[in-house]
Amino acid sequence: MNSLNIPESDLRILSDWVSQHMGLHFPPNRWNDLSLGIAGAAEQFGFPDVLNCIRWLITAPLRDEQIKVLAGQLTIGETYFFRELATFKALEETVLPNLLRARYEQDRSLRVWCAGCCTGEEPYSIAILLRQLLPDWPEWNITILGTDINPKFIEKAQAGIYGSWSFRVTPESFKERYFRPHGEGAFELLPELKKWVHFHYLNLVEDNYPSHYNLTLGMDVVFCRNVLMYFDGACQEKVVGKFHRALRDGGWFIPGLTEILEVYRTKFTPVNFPGAVLYQKSPPVKSKPAISHHWNEAVPATPLTPLTPGREPACPDAPADAANRHSWLKPLPLSDSPPPGPALANPAAPPAVRAGESANGEGTVESLVQRARSLAGGKNLAAAIHCLDRALAMDRLNIQAYYVQGMVFLELGELGRALKAFKHTLFLQPEHILAHVNLAQVAGRQNQFRLRDKHLDNATNLLKRLAPDAVVPEADGLSASHLLELITKPHAQELPGEPPKRSSR
Ligand SMILES: C[S@@+](CC[C@H](N)C(=O)[O-])C[C@H]1O[C@@H](n2cnc3c(N)ncnc32)[C@H](O)[C@@H]1O
Repeated sequence: MNSLNIPESDLRILSDWVSQHMGLHFPPNRWNDLSLGIAGAAEQFGFPDVLNCIRWLITAPLRDEQIKVLAGQLTIGETYFFRELATFKALEETVLPNLLRARYEQDRSLRVWCAGCCTGEEPYSIAILLRQLLPDWPEWNITILGTDINPKFIEKAQAGIYGSWSFRVTPESFKERYFRPHGEGAFELLPELKKWVHFHYLNLVEDNYPSHYNLTLGMDVVFCRNVLMYFDGACQEKVVGKFHRALRDGGWFIPGLTEILEVYRTKFTPVNFPGAVLYQKSPPVKSKPAISHHWNEAVPATPLTPLTPGREPACPDAPADAANRHSWLKPLPLSDSPPPGPALANPAAPPAVRAGESANGEGTVESLVQRARSLAGGKNLAAAIHCLDRALAMDRLNIQAYYVQGMVFLELGELGRALKAFKHTLFLQPEHILAHVNLAQVAGRQNQFRLRDKHLDNATNLLKRLAPDAVVPEADGLSASHLLELITKPHAQELPGEPPKRSSR
Protein backbone atom coordinates (compact mmCIF):
# COMPACT_ATOMS: atom_id res chain seq x y z
CA MET A 1 0.00 0.00 0.00
CA ASN A 2 1.17 3.52 -0.72
CA SER A 3 1.55 6.24 1.86
CA LEU A 4 -1.73 7.95 0.82
CA ASN A 5 -3.81 4.79 0.92
CA ILE A 6 -4.98 5.10 -2.68
CA PRO A 7 -6.42 1.73 -3.77
CA GLU A 8 -4.09 -0.26 -6.00
CA SER A 9 -6.80 -0.68 -8.62
CA ASP A 10 -6.92 3.12 -9.07
CA LEU A 11 -3.17 3.39 -9.16
CA ARG A 12 -3.03 0.70 -11.85
CA ILE A 13 -5.51 2.63 -14.00
CA LEU A 14 -3.64 5.86 -13.36
CA SER A 15 -0.26 4.35 -14.20
CA ASP A 16 -1.67 3.02 -17.50
CA TRP A 17 -3.06 6.47 -18.28
CA VAL A 18 0.26 8.15 -17.47
CA SER A 19 2.16 5.64 -19.57
CA GLN A 20 -0.18 6.10 -22.52
CA HIS A 21 -0.28 9.88 -22.48
CA MET A 22 3.12 10.81 -21.11
CA GLY A 23 5.30 7.78 -21.79
CA LEU A 24 6.28 7.61 -18.15
CA HIS A 25 6.42 4.11 -16.81
CA PHE A 26 5.34 3.59 -13.18
CA PRO A 27 5.64 -0.07 -12.21
CA PRO A 28 4.13 -1.11 -8.84
CA ASN A 29 7.40 -0.49 -7.01
CA ARG A 30 7.07 3.21 -7.95
CA TRP A 31 3.42 3.59 -7.02
CA ASN A 32 4.33 5.54 -3.94
CA ASP A 33 5.94 8.19 -6.16
CA LEU A 34 2.87 8.08 -8.39
CA SER A 35 0.49 8.58 -5.48
CA LEU A 36 2.51 11.53 -4.14
CA GLY A 37 2.54 13.02 -7.63
CA ILE A 38 -1.20 12.68 -8.17
CA ALA A 39 -1.83 14.15 -4.72
CA GLY A 40 0.18 17.24 -5.70
CA ALA A 41 -1.65 17.44 -9.03
CA ALA A 42 -5.07 17.08 -7.31
CA GLU A 43 -4.24 20.10 -5.18
CA GLN A 44 -3.27 22.11 -8.26
CA PHE A 45 -6.44 21.09 -10.10
CA GLY A 46 -8.48 22.05 -7.02
CA PHE A 47 -9.66 18.57 -6.02
CA PRO A 48 -9.85 18.05 -2.24
CA ASP A 49 -10.11 14.32 -2.89
CA VAL A 50 -7.34 12.50 -4.79
CA LEU A 51 -9.58 9.65 -5.96
CA ASN A 52 -11.99 12.12 -7.56
CA CYS A 53 -9.07 13.71 -9.31
CA ILE A 54 -7.93 10.35 -10.74
CA ARG A 55 -11.43 9.56 -11.98
CA TRP A 56 -11.82 12.99 -13.56
CA LEU A 57 -8.42 12.72 -15.20
CA ILE A 58 -9.04 9.41 -16.90
CA THR A 59 -12.53 10.29 -18.13
CA ALA A 60 -12.29 13.99 -19.05
CA PRO A 61 -11.24 14.96 -22.60
CA LEU A 62 -7.47 15.17 -22.70
CA ARG A 63 -5.97 18.65 -22.59
CA ASP A 64 -2.38 19.84 -22.56
CA GLU A 65 -3.07 21.50 -19.23
CA GLN A 66 -3.59 18.14 -17.50
CA ILE A 67 -0.35 16.79 -18.91
CA LYS A 68 1.58 19.89 -17.93
CA VAL A 69 0.38 19.81 -14.33
CA LEU A 70 1.09 16.11 -14.00
CA ALA A 71 4.48 16.52 -15.65
CA GLY A 72 5.33 19.09 -13.00
CA GLN A 73 4.66 16.43 -10.38
CA LEU A 74 5.93 13.25 -11.98
CA THR A 75 9.04 14.09 -14.01
CA ILE A 76 12.58 13.89 -12.74
CA GLY A 77 14.67 17.00 -13.24
CA GLU A 78 18.14 15.65 -12.85
CA THR A 79 20.68 17.26 -15.20
CA TYR A 80 23.87 19.34 -15.24
CA PHE A 81 26.32 20.95 -17.62
CA PHE A 82 28.43 18.58 -19.71
CA ARG A 83 26.76 15.55 -18.19
CA GLU A 84 28.33 12.36 -19.58
CA LEU A 85 31.60 13.84 -20.72
CA ALA A 86 32.49 10.96 -23.03
CA THR A 87 29.58 11.97 -25.24
CA PHE A 88 30.71 15.58 -25.38
CA LYS A 89 34.24 14.48 -26.18
CA ALA A 90 33.00 12.43 -29.15
CA LEU A 91 30.96 15.42 -30.28
CA GLU A 92 33.84 17.81 -29.85
CA GLU A 93 36.46 15.71 -31.56
CA THR A 94 34.61 13.98 -34.35
CA VAL A 95 30.88 14.41 -34.76
CA LEU A 96 30.59 18.20 -34.74
CA PRO A 97 33.79 18.98 -36.67
CA ASN A 98 32.62 16.64 -39.45
CA LEU A 99 29.15 18.13 -39.54
CA LEU A 100 30.47 21.67 -39.45
CA ARG A 101 32.93 20.99 -42.19
CA ALA A 102 30.19 19.58 -44.41
CA ARG A 103 27.89 22.51 -43.64
CA TYR A 104 30.66 25.02 -44.19
CA GLU A 105 30.63 24.05 -47.83
CA GLN A 106 26.85 24.44 -47.97
CA ASP A 107 24.76 26.91 -46.02
CA ARG A 108 26.68 27.20 -42.73
CA SER A 109 23.73 26.07 -40.70
CA LEU A 110 23.36 23.42 -38.06
CA ARG A 111 20.28 22.18 -36.26
CA VAL A 112 20.38 20.38 -32.93
CA TRP A 113 17.43 19.19 -30.86
CA CYS A 114 17.51 18.21 -27.19
CA ALA A 115 14.32 16.28 -26.51
CA GLY A 116 13.65 16.08 -22.78
CA CYS A 117 16.09 18.91 -22.13
CA CYS A 118 14.92 19.50 -18.57
CA THR A 119 16.17 22.84 -17.21
CA GLY A 120 18.44 23.58 -20.17
CA GLU A 121 21.93 22.59 -19.05
CA GLU A 122 22.20 20.07 -21.91
CA PRO A 123 21.32 22.39 -24.85
CA TYR A 124 23.40 25.17 -23.34
CA SER A 125 26.39 22.80 -23.04
CA ILE A 126 26.01 22.18 -26.78
CA ALA A 127 25.81 25.93 -27.45
CA ILE A 128 29.04 26.46 -25.51
CA LEU A 129 30.75 23.61 -27.33
CA LEU A 130 29.72 25.01 -30.71
CA ARG A 131 30.77 28.48 -29.69
CA GLN A 132 34.22 27.09 -29.00
CA LEU A 133 34.38 25.13 -32.22
CA LEU A 134 33.32 28.07 -34.37
CA PRO A 135 35.60 31.10 -34.24
CA ASP A 136 33.47 32.57 -37.06
CA TRP A 137 30.21 31.82 -35.26
CA PRO A 138 28.46 35.07 -36.27
CA GLU A 139 28.50 33.79 -39.85
CA TRP A 140 26.63 30.62 -38.89
CA ASN A 141 22.99 29.92 -38.49
CA ILE A 142 22.93 27.69 -35.43
CA THR A 143 19.61 26.45 -34.11
CA ILE A 144 19.44 24.55 -30.87
CA LEU A 145 16.00 23.47 -29.80
CA GLY A 146 15.21 22.31 -26.27
CA THR A 147 11.86 20.67 -25.59
CA ASP A 148 10.35 19.15 -22.48
CA ILE A 149 7.02 18.06 -21.13
CA ASN A 150 7.44 19.98 -17.88
CA PRO A 151 6.61 23.70 -18.32
CA LYS A 152 8.41 24.64 -15.12
CA PHE A 153 11.63 23.16 -16.46
CA ILE A 154 11.16 25.09 -19.70
CA GLU A 155 10.72 28.33 -17.78
CA LYS A 156 13.88 27.72 -15.84
CA ALA A 157 15.74 26.84 -19.02
CA GLN A 158 14.62 30.07 -20.66
CA ALA A 159 15.87 32.08 -17.71
CA GLY A 160 19.31 30.44 -18.02
CA ILE A 161 20.16 30.99 -14.34
CA TYR A 162 21.84 28.18 -12.45
CA GLY A 163 23.16 27.31 -9.02
CA SER A 164 26.39 25.53 -8.21
CA TRP A 165 24.85 22.04 -8.46
CA SER A 166 24.47 22.47 -12.22
CA PHE A 167 28.22 23.04 -12.47
CA ARG A 168 29.19 19.92 -10.57
CA VAL A 169 31.55 18.57 -13.26
CA THR A 170 32.69 21.87 -14.67
CA PRO A 171 35.52 23.95 -13.24
CA GLU A 172 35.34 27.54 -12.00
CA SER A 173 36.95 28.89 -15.18
CA PHE A 174 34.02 27.57 -17.23
CA LYS A 175 31.55 29.48 -15.10
CA GLU A 176 33.65 32.62 -15.26
CA ARG A 177 33.94 32.49 -19.02
CA TYR A 178 30.35 31.84 -20.05
CA PHE A 179 28.25 33.09 -17.15
CA ARG A 180 27.85 36.22 -15.10
CA PRO A 181 26.96 36.32 -11.41
CA HIS A 182 23.26 36.61 -10.71
CA GLY A 183 22.45 37.13 -7.06
CA GLU A 184 23.87 34.97 -4.35
CA GLY A 185 25.44 31.74 -5.56
CA ALA A 186 23.68 31.87 -8.94
CA PHE A 187 25.05 32.41 -12.44
CA GLU A 188 23.35 33.53 -15.61
CA LEU A 189 24.43 32.34 -19.04
CA LEU A 190 25.73 35.15 -21.25
CA PRO A 191 22.94 36.51 -23.49
CA GLU A 192 24.84 35.87 -26.74
CA LEU A 193 24.85 32.15 -25.94
CA LYS A 194 21.34 32.11 -24.52
CA LYS A 195 19.89 33.40 -27.75
CA TRP A 196 21.14 30.38 -29.69
CA VAL A 197 18.78 28.10 -27.82
CA HIS A 198 15.00 28.08 -28.12
CA PHE A 199 12.74 26.15 -25.80
CA HIS A 200 9.22 24.93 -26.08
CA TYR A 201 6.84 22.40 -24.62
CA LEU A 202 6.65 19.09 -26.44
CA ASN A 203 5.28 15.80 -25.19
CA LEU A 204 7.25 13.03 -26.89
CA VAL A 205 4.31 10.67 -26.72
CA GLU A 206 2.14 12.83 -28.96
CA ASP A 207 1.92 12.48 -32.70
CA ASN A 208 2.52 16.14 -33.56
CA TYR A 209 6.18 15.75 -34.55
CA PRO A 210 8.46 15.70 -36.44
CA SER A 211 6.94 18.68 -38.17
CA HIS A 212 7.80 22.11 -39.52
CA TYR A 213 5.19 23.50 -37.14
CA ASN A 214 7.21 22.75 -34.05
CA LEU A 215 10.57 23.05 -35.85
CA THR A 216 11.49 19.44 -35.27
CA LEU A 217 12.44 18.51 -38.84
CA GLY A 218 15.79 18.65 -40.63
CA MET A 219 17.88 17.98 -37.54
CA ASP A 220 21.62 17.27 -37.70
CA VAL A 221 21.76 15.95 -34.15
CA VAL A 222 18.99 14.77 -31.83
CA PHE A 223 19.81 14.32 -28.16
CA CYS A 224 17.40 12.35 -26.05
CA ARG A 225 19.34 11.39 -22.98
CA ASN A 226 18.00 9.85 -19.81
CA VAL A 227 14.41 10.27 -20.95
CA LEU A 228 13.44 7.10 -22.81
CA MET A 229 14.65 4.95 -19.93
CA TYR A 230 11.43 5.96 -18.15
CA PHE A 231 9.24 4.88 -21.11
CA ASP A 232 7.85 1.46 -21.87
CA GLY A 233 9.17 -0.57 -24.83
CA ALA A 234 6.41 0.23 -27.32
CA CYS A 235 6.67 3.92 -26.58
CA GLN A 236 10.47 3.87 -26.86
CA GLU A 237 10.21 2.31 -30.28
CA LYS A 238 7.66 4.82 -31.50
CA VAL A 239 9.63 7.81 -30.25
CA VAL A 240 12.94 6.59 -31.68
CA GLY A 241 11.20 6.11 -35.06
CA LYS A 242 10.13 9.76 -34.92
CA PHE A 243 13.65 10.90 -34.09
CA HIS A 244 14.84 8.96 -37.11
CA ARG A 245 12.41 10.90 -39.28
CA ALA A 246 13.42 14.19 -37.66
CA LEU A 247 17.06 13.67 -38.64
CA ARG A 248 18.73 14.46 -41.93
CA ASP A 249 20.65 11.68 -43.63
CA GLY A 250 23.98 11.24 -41.88
CA GLY A 251 22.62 12.95 -38.75
CA TRP A 252 23.22 11.65 -35.24
CA PHE A 253 21.00 10.33 -32.49
CA ILE A 254 22.50 10.63 -29.03
CA PRO A 255 20.98 8.69 -26.14
CA GLY A 256 22.23 8.54 -22.55
CA LEU A 257 25.34 6.47 -21.89
CA THR A 258 23.48 3.84 -19.92
CA GLU A 259 20.57 3.56 -22.33
CA ILE A 260 21.32 0.75 -24.71
CA LEU A 261 18.11 -0.15 -26.46
CA GLU A 262 17.74 -2.62 -29.29
CA VAL A 263 15.62 -0.16 -31.25
CA TYR A 264 18.63 2.18 -31.59
CA ARG A 265 20.47 -0.54 -33.47
CA THR A 266 17.59 -1.38 -35.72
CA LYS A 267 17.05 2.23 -36.76
CA PHE A 268 20.60 3.60 -36.73
CA THR A 269 24.21 2.59 -37.25
CA PRO A 270 25.98 2.42 -33.89
CA VAL A 271 29.41 4.06 -33.88
CA ASN A 272 31.85 3.46 -31.06
CA PHE A 273 33.75 6.29 -29.43
CA PRO A 274 35.87 6.07 -26.30
CA GLY A 275 33.34 5.55 -23.52
CA ALA A 276 30.28 6.25 -25.68
CA VAL A 277 28.21 4.76 -28.47
CA LEU A 278 26.43 7.25 -30.72
CA TYR A 279 24.00 6.40 -33.50
CA GLN A 280 24.09 7.66 -37.06
CA LYS A 281 21.27 7.75 -39.57
CA SER A 282 22.63 6.13 -42.71
CA PRO A 283 24.13 8.74 -44.96
CA PRO A 284 23.11 8.67 -48.61
CA VAL A 285 25.01 5.97 -50.47
CA LYS A 286 27.25 8.40 -52.35
CA SER A 287 28.41 10.50 -49.42
CA LYS A 288 32.08 10.63 -48.49
CA PRO A 289 33.19 8.84 -45.35
CA ALA A 290 33.07 11.05 -42.31
CA ILE A 291 36.50 12.07 -41.15
CA SER A 292 37.79 13.86 -38.13
CA HIS A 293 39.21 17.36 -38.39
CA HIS A 294 42.79 16.32 -37.66
CA TRP A 295 42.88 14.39 -40.89
CA ASN A 296 40.53 16.27 -43.08
CA GLU A 297 41.56 17.03 -46.64
CA ALA A 298 39.32 20.04 -46.95
CA VAL A 299 40.60 22.67 -44.56
CA PRO A 300 38.01 25.42 -44.28
CA ALA A 301 39.02 29.03 -44.56
CA THR A 302 38.13 29.47 -40.93
CA PRO A 303 39.77 27.16 -38.44
CA LEU A 304 37.71 24.90 -36.23
CA THR A 305 38.91 25.08 -32.68
CA PRO A 306 38.56 22.09 -30.41
CA LEU A 307 38.02 22.55 -26.72
CA THR A 308 40.96 22.27 -24.44
CA PRO A 309 40.69 19.12 -22.40
CA GLY A 310 41.72 19.63 -18.82
CA ARG A 311 41.06 17.59 -15.73
CA GLU A 312 38.03 16.05 -17.33
CA PRO A 313 38.13 15.33 -21.04
CA ALA A 314 35.81 17.20 -23.37
CA CYS A 315 35.03 19.76 -20.77
CA PRO A 316 35.92 23.32 -21.74
CA ASP A 317 37.80 23.91 -18.55
CA ALA A 318 40.96 25.57 -19.74
CA PRO A 319 41.65 28.66 -21.78
CA ALA A 320 41.46 28.22 -25.52
CA ASP A 321 45.16 28.75 -26.07
CA ALA A 322 47.05 29.51 -29.21
CA ALA A 323 48.28 26.02 -29.87
CA ASN A 324 44.79 24.66 -29.73
CA ARG A 325 43.72 27.13 -32.26
CA HIS A 326 46.01 25.47 -34.71
CA SER A 327 44.89 21.93 -34.16
CA TRP A 328 42.85 22.01 -37.34
CA LEU A 329 46.04 22.28 -39.36
CA LYS A 330 46.41 19.55 -41.88
CA PRO A 331 49.91 18.33 -41.15
CA LEU A 332 49.67 15.00 -42.93
CA PRO A 333 49.21 14.74 -46.63
CA LEU A 334 46.70 11.99 -47.19
CA SER A 335 47.15 11.34 -50.83
CA ASP A 336 45.92 7.74 -50.81
CA SER A 337 42.25 7.10 -50.99
CA PRO A 338 41.04 5.69 -47.70
CA PRO A 339 40.74 1.93 -47.45
CA PRO A 340 37.30 0.40 -47.17
CA GLY A 341 36.00 0.24 -43.63
CA PRO A 342 33.67 1.91 -41.18
CA ALA A 343 32.94 5.55 -41.83
CA LEU A 344 34.25 6.68 -38.49
CA ALA A 345 37.10 5.75 -36.27
CA ASN A 346 36.66 2.85 -34.00
CA PRO A 347 39.85 2.85 -31.99
CA ALA A 348 38.83 -0.46 -30.48
CA ALA A 349 38.70 -2.16 -33.87
CA PRO A 350 41.25 -4.92 -34.39
CA PRO A 351 44.17 -4.14 -36.67
CA ALA A 352 43.20 -5.00 -40.21
CA VAL A 353 46.31 -5.14 -42.31
CA ARG A 354 45.52 -6.24 -45.82
CA ALA A 355 47.11 -9.21 -47.50
CA GLY A 356 50.48 -8.54 -49.10
CA GLU A 357 51.11 -5.53 -46.88
CA SER A 358 53.95 -6.95 -44.89
CA ALA A 359 51.68 -8.91 -42.60
CA ASN A 360 54.57 -11.32 -42.37
CA GLY A 361 57.31 -8.72 -42.35
CA GLU A 362 57.86 -8.39 -46.08
CA GLY A 363 57.15 -4.63 -46.56
CA THR A 364 59.83 -1.96 -46.30
CA VAL A 365 59.81 0.53 -43.47
CA GLU A 366 58.80 3.25 -45.92
CA SER A 367 55.89 1.24 -47.31
CA LEU A 368 54.70 0.50 -43.78
CA VAL A 369 54.78 4.19 -42.87
CA GLN A 370 53.00 5.09 -46.09
CA ARG A 371 50.43 2.42 -45.37
CA ALA A 372 49.96 3.81 -41.86
CA ARG A 373 49.28 7.27 -43.29
CA SER A 374 46.71 5.83 -45.61
CA LEU A 375 45.02 3.81 -42.85
CA ALA A 376 44.99 6.85 -40.60
CA GLY A 377 43.41 8.90 -43.37
CA GLY A 378 40.69 6.24 -43.60
CA LYS A 379 40.24 6.41 -39.82
CA ASN A 380 41.57 2.93 -39.27
CA LEU A 381 43.75 4.14 -36.45
CA ALA A 382 44.34 0.83 -34.71
CA ALA A 383 45.66 -0.67 -37.94
CA ALA A 384 47.81 2.43 -38.53
CA ILE A 385 49.44 1.99 -35.12
CA HIS A 386 50.03 -1.65 -35.86
CA CYS A 387 51.89 -0.75 -39.09
CA LEU A 388 53.94 1.88 -37.30
CA ASP A 389 54.92 -0.51 -34.53
CA ARG A 390 56.18 -2.89 -37.17
CA ALA A 391 58.02 -0.12 -38.99
CA LEU A 392 59.72 0.94 -35.76
CA ALA A 393 60.57 -2.64 -34.90
CA MET A 394 62.46 -2.72 -38.20
CA ASP A 395 64.04 0.72 -37.79
CA ARG A 396 64.09 2.31 -34.33
CA LEU A 397 65.40 5.57 -35.82
CA ASN A 398 62.77 6.17 -38.43
CA ILE A 399 61.76 9.81 -38.17
CA GLN A 400 58.61 9.56 -40.25
CA ALA A 401 57.30 6.59 -38.31
CA TYR A 402 57.55 8.54 -35.04
CA TYR A 403 55.95 11.60 -36.60
CA VAL A 404 52.99 9.68 -38.03
CA GLN A 405 52.68 7.82 -34.74
CA GLY A 406 52.38 11.19 -32.98
CA MET A 407 49.60 12.21 -35.35
CA VAL A 408 47.71 8.98 -34.83
CA PHE A 409 47.94 9.26 -31.05
CA LEU A 410 46.83 12.87 -31.31
CA GLU A 411 43.83 11.74 -33.31
CA LEU A 412 43.03 9.15 -30.67
CA GLY A 413 43.30 11.77 -27.94
CA GLU A 414 46.23 9.94 -26.35
CA LEU A 415 48.12 13.10 -25.65
CA GLY A 416 50.91 11.60 -23.52
CA ARG A 417 51.85 9.12 -26.22
CA ALA A 418 51.54 11.77 -28.93
CA LEU A 419 53.90 14.03 -26.99
CA LYS A 420 56.43 11.23 -26.65
CA ALA A 421 56.28 10.39 -30.35
CA PHE A 422 56.78 14.03 -31.39
CA LYS A 423 59.70 14.28 -28.96
CA HIS A 424 61.26 11.20 -30.57
CA THR A 425 60.78 12.85 -33.97
CA LEU A 426 62.51 16.00 -32.80
CA PHE A 427 65.30 14.09 -31.10
CA LEU A 428 66.09 12.54 -34.47
CA GLN A 429 65.36 15.66 -36.51
CA PRO A 430 65.35 18.86 -34.43
CA GLU A 431 64.32 20.98 -37.40
CA HIS A 432 61.13 19.00 -38.15
CA ILE A 433 58.77 21.99 -38.34
CA LEU A 434 55.47 20.17 -38.12
CA ALA A 435 56.64 18.06 -35.20
CA HIS A 436 57.25 21.35 -33.35
CA VAL A 437 53.83 22.67 -34.34
CA ASN A 438 52.03 19.51 -33.29
CA LEU A 439 54.02 19.11 -30.11
CA ALA A 440 53.02 22.68 -29.26
CA GLN A 441 49.43 21.71 -29.84
CA VAL A 442 49.65 18.72 -27.51
CA ALA A 443 51.45 20.76 -24.87
CA GLY A 444 48.75 23.42 -25.06
CA ARG A 445 46.04 20.82 -24.60
CA GLN A 446 47.88 19.58 -21.53
CA ASN A 447 48.15 23.13 -20.19
CA GLN A 448 51.93 23.02 -20.53
CA PHE A 449 52.07 26.54 -21.88
CA ARG A 450 55.84 27.07 -21.58
CA LEU A 451 56.52 23.92 -23.53
CA ARG A 452 53.93 24.95 -26.08
CA ASP A 453 55.48 28.39 -26.54
CA LYS A 454 58.97 26.95 -26.80
CA HIS A 455 57.95 24.73 -29.70
CA LEU A 456 55.93 27.42 -31.42
CA ASP A 457 59.05 29.61 -31.18
CA ASN A 458 61.14 26.86 -32.72
CA ALA A 459 58.64 26.37 -35.55
CA THR A 460 58.51 30.12 -36.14
CA ASN A 461 62.30 30.43 -36.30
CA LEU A 462 62.61 27.48 -38.66
CA LEU A 463 59.88 28.84 -40.92
CA LYS A 464 61.56 32.25 -41.06
CA ARG A 465 64.68 30.58 -42.38
CA LEU A 466 62.76 29.31 -45.40
CA ALA A 467 61.83 31.37 -48.43
CA PRO A 468 58.24 32.60 -47.95
CA ASP A 469 56.92 30.52 -50.83
CA ALA A 470 58.94 27.40 -49.98
CA VAL A 471 56.76 24.36 -49.41
CA VAL A 472 56.96 23.09 -45.82
CA PRO A 473 57.85 19.39 -45.63
CA GLU A 474 54.92 17.17 -44.56
CA ALA A 475 52.50 20.10 -44.87
CA ASP A 476 50.89 19.05 -48.13
CA GLY A 477 51.85 22.05 -50.18
CA LEU A 478 51.48 24.68 -47.46
CA SER A 479 54.01 27.48 -47.93
CA ALA A 480 56.30 28.73 -45.18
CA SER A 481 54.66 32.14 -45.12
CA HIS A 482 51.20 30.62 -44.90
CA LEU A 483 52.10 28.31 -42.05
CA LEU A 484 53.86 31.15 -40.27
CA GLU A 485 50.74 33.22 -40.53
CA LEU A 486 48.63 30.36 -39.23
CA ILE A 487 50.72 29.76 -36.16
CA THR A 488 51.08 33.41 -35.24
CA LYS A 489 47.73 34.89 -36.27
CA PRO A 490 45.84 36.18 -33.24
CA HIS A 491 42.52 34.57 -32.71
CA ALA A 492 39.68 36.25 -34.55
CA GLN A 493 37.07 35.94 -31.82
CA GLU A 494 37.96 36.36 -28.20
CA LEU A 495 35.76 34.93 -25.53
CA PRO A 496 35.05 37.04 -22.49
CA GLY A 497 37.29 36.16 -19.60
CA GLU A 498 39.97 34.47 -21.65
CA PRO A 499 43.56 35.16 -20.64
CA PRO A 500 45.75 37.18 -23.00
CA LYS A 501 46.81 35.25 -26.04
CA ARG A 502 50.31 34.37 -26.93
CA SER A 503 51.68 37.35 -28.85
CA SER A 504 52.35 37.29 -32.56
CA ARG A 505 55.90 36.90 -33.62
C1 LIG B 1 16.37 12.97 -16.21
S1 LIG B 1 15.89 14.31 -17.19
C2 LIG B 1 17.13 14.27 -18.44
C3 LIG B 1 17.61 15.64 -18.79
C4 LIG B 1 18.72 15.68 -19.81
N1 LIG B 1 18.31 15.10 -21.06
C5 LIG B 1 19.98 15.00 -19.30
O1 LIG B 1 20.26 13.86 -19.66
O2 LIG B 1 20.69 15.62 -18.51
C6 LIG B 1 14.44 13.65 -18.03
C7 LIG B 1 13.61 14.74 -18.70
O3 LIG B 1 12.67 14.13 -19.58
C8 LIG B 1 11.48 14.87 -19.53
N2 LIG B 1 10.36 14.04 -20.01
C9 LIG B 1 9.79 12.99 -19.40
N3 LIG B 1 8.77 12.51 -20.14
C10 LIG B 1 8.68 13.28 -21.23
C11 LIG B 1 7.82 13.30 -22.36
N4 LIG B 1 6.80 12.44 -22.49
N5 LIG B 1 8.02 14.24 -23.30
C12 LIG B 1 9.01 15.14 -23.16
N6 LIG B 1 9.86 15.17 -22.13
C13 LIG B 1 9.69 14.26 -21.17
C14 LIG B 1 11.38 15.25 -18.07
O4 LIG B 1 10.52 16.33 -17.86
C15 LIG B 1 12.82 15.57 -17.72
O5 LIG B 1 13.11 16.91 -17.92
